Amino acid sequence: MSECRVLLANADVEGIERLPVYEAHGGYRTLRKGLTEMTAADVAKEVLDSGLRGRGGAGFPTGRKWSFLPNDGRPRILVCNADEGEPGTFKDHYLIHRLPHLLLEGMILSAYAIGAGRAFIYLRGEFLQGYELLEAAMAEAHEAGYLGEHILGTDYSLDLCLYRGAGAYICGEETALLDSLEGKRGIPRMKPPFPATAGLYGLPTVVNNVETLAAVVPIVAEGAQWYRTMGTEKSPGTKIYSMSGCLERPGNYEFPMGTPLSELIEAAGGLLPGRRFKAVVPGGASAAYLTGDHIDIAMDYDSLAAAGTMLGSGGVIVLDDSVCIVSFTERAIEFFRHESCGKCSPCREGTLWMSQVLGRLERGEGSEADLDLLLDLTDNIAGRTFCAFGDAAVAMVASSVRMFRDEYLEHFAQQGCPLEKERVG
Ligand SMILES: Cc1cc2nc3c(=O)[nH]c(=O)nc-3n(C[C@H](O)[C@H](O)[C@H](O)COP(=O)(O)O)c2cc1C
Repeated sequence: MSECRVLLANADVEGIERLPVYEAHGGYRTLRKGLTEMTAADVAKEVLDSGLRGRGGAGFPTGRKWSFLPNDGRPRILVCNADEGEPGTFKDHYLIHRLPHLLLEGMILSAYAIGAGRAFIYLRGEFLQGYELLEAAMAEAHEAGYLGEHILGTDYSLDLCLYRGAGAYICGEETALLDSLEGKRGIPRMKPPFPATAGLYGLPTVVNNVETLAAVVPIVAEGAQWYRTMGTEKSPGTKIYSMSGCLERPGNYEFPMGTPLSELIEAAGGLLPGRRFKAVVPGGASAAYLTGDHIDIAMDYDSLAAAGTMLGSGGVIVLDDSVCIVSFTERAIEFFRHESCGKCSPCREGTLWMSQVLGRLERGEGSEADLDLLLDLTDNIAGRTFCAFGDAAVAMVASSVRMFRDEYLEHFAQQGCPLEKERVG
C-alpha cells in the first residue's frame, strides 16, 4: 500500500517553506475560507465532527478539548506544543522544517475557532533551524496580512509569539510547558484545574500538538466527512508515523490511522538484509513492547491500547534480532532517569533505581530476584506521579520482563550480554 499524504502532500515541493511557493500550492486558501465564509463556531464544529484526536500522545479528541473552554469573557490562549522530546518521534520537527506555513495556517484557524487573540509556539530549544524557519515564515505571514491585526481585512486579529524552550523532555507535558512559558522552571502542575480553565497565567488555554494543528487545515478545507473517509471510526484521518530503528529507509510516513504495522515496515523499506523481526515499540520510548505476534496490528489508538501498549506520538521503533532487549531497555530508562523532573519521589527515585538494576542485569551481574524487584519498582511508579511521565518510564521495563524473561535469564547464564559476546567474538 502506498502512502496517503494529506499533511505531507506538498512536503517534497522545493521551496515550500517559503510563502510564495506555499501560496502557489493552495496555501492560506483555507484560512481565507475559514475567516471569511465560516464563523468561529463553524470551524470548531468541523473539527469536532471530524473526530480528530490530538497527535501529542494521549489522543484526546481535539474538538471536545476546545469545547471545555469556559464562556466567562476572559481572554483565551492557544499554545502549540512543539517540544517533541519523545525518543523515536520526529514528525513535528519535520513538519516545521518542510511546512512551517501549514502549521501557521492551522494555528490561525484554530485560534479563530476557539476565540483566542494570543497564541504561542513552544519550540524545543535544540531545533535551531526550525526556529529560524518559523521566524521567517511568521514574518512572511505578517507581511502578507495572515497574522497580526485584522487578518485578511476581517475583524479577527492574532498576536503569535514564538518561544524557545531549553530542551527538557518534561516541558513537553502541557502544564510543565505552561510553567516554562511563564518563565518558571518547567515542572508539572496539579490537575485539575486543567489548562482549559486555568492555563497560561491562569487564563483559559488550549494546548495542542503541531501535527494536530496542521490537520485542522485539510479538515476545514475538505470537511469533516471527507476526513472521516480515512482511518478508523474511532481514530479518523491520517497519521504521520516516525519509522526508526532497524529499517532500510527510516523516516516519516503518512498513512491512514489503523494501517497494519507490517505495511508501515514495508513502506520504510523493510528490515535490514538477513535480519529477523524481534520487537517494536509503537509509540516512542514511552510505549510497551510488542512482539512478532502483533506484526499485523492496526496502528491506531484503540487497537494498540487493547494490546497493552499505545500509539502515543507515533514514534515506531523497530528492533531486529541483532538488538539486545536488556541493553535497549537500559538505554531507554537511562533517558527517563536523566529527564525526570524530580518533583514526585516515586519517579525521581524509581527511575534511578530501575536504571541501576538494569545496568547490573545487562552486565550479567544481576540475579533472578532483580526481575521481581524491577516489576515491583514499576508497580510503585505507575499511577503514583503527578503527570504521565511515571507511566511512560515503566512501560518498556515492565513489558520487557514479561515478554523477554528468557533473554534476561540468558544474561545471568552467560554472565553478560550474549549478543555483545557474539559481536566481540
Ligand atoms: C512527559 C510528557 C512529555 C510530553 N511531551 C509532549 C511533546 O513533546 N509534544 C506534545 O505535543 N505533547 C507532549 N505531551 C502531551 C502533552 O501533555 C499534551 O497532552 C499535548 O500537547 C496535547 O496536544 P494534543 O491534544 O494535540 O495531543 C507530553 C506528555 C508527557 C506526560
